[in-house]
Amino acid sequence: MAGIGQRLAPVIAHRGAAARAPENTLAAIRLAAAEGARWVEVDVKLSRDGHCILMHDELLGRTTDGRGEVAHYDLDELQGLDAGSWFAERFAGERIPTLEAALALCLSLKLDINLEIKPCPGRERETARACVEIVRAQWPNRQPWPLLSSFSEASLEEAQLLAPEMPRGLLIERSTERVLATLDRLDCVSLHCDHKRVSTGLVRALEPSRRPLLCYTVNDPARALLLRDIGVVSIITDRPAEIGAALGF
Ligand code: G3P
Ligand code: MG
Repeated sequence: MAGIGQRLAPVIAHRGAAARAPENTLAAIRLAAAEGARWVEVDVKLSRDGHCILMHDELLGRTTDGRGEVAHYDLDELQGLDAGSWFAERFAGERIPTLEAALALCLSLKLDINLEIKPCPGRERETARACVEIVRAQWPNRQPWPLLSSFSEASLEEAQLLAPEMPRGLLIERSTERVLATLDRLDCVSLHCDHKRVSTGLVRALEPSRRPLLCYTVNDPARALLLRDIGVVSIITDRPAEIGAALGF
């Protein structure tokens, strides 16, 4: 099976195609495919009753018509919320998807997926465990696994323990002296860094281990070109159509 460097696309649609559809919804994933993306990134959290859902924030208020903490609601309550109207009226009635529904949609659209494990505080291992169990149960054997990434080292450790066969990416906001040792310890195949903090030095530091560098969240085509030219393998963007066009895809 191809290594992650060969599998990754130059463009990964961030939270779906989040510039033109409500982030982390099935509509955003569909739009990413319609805009030509071959990969999508989504954020995975747990409901109170332990179901994996797509959601970025710990609070419901920004991206739904609910209030309070995601972790205080069961799945059936969360699925009663409107996750589309905040973005635009035409998305009214869009729901918070389960991870199962998102995986099924990606499979039907032939999209590769980067699952960012984004645990609410204190649920780092539990979130990774639930995510891995769903992927293992649902993802076809013949397909390369989704790429699991996280800022949480505890989540990555748990994924490594339970599913060493699933590729892991380390998310960082900025590079530190420990980053290479952490990549080795967690046996990560890729590094995902804030594009504002990327340097040619970081690209060079990854070369001996042949780990690709991915950058988030890049919505400016000129910036994407510059990053590509210094050796960034994948650009994670809210605007896959524009960034794809700039990069020639
Ligand atoms: O996975 C890349 C990126 O999504 C990480 O940051 O806050 O957008 O989830 P955030
Ligand atoms: Mg994310």
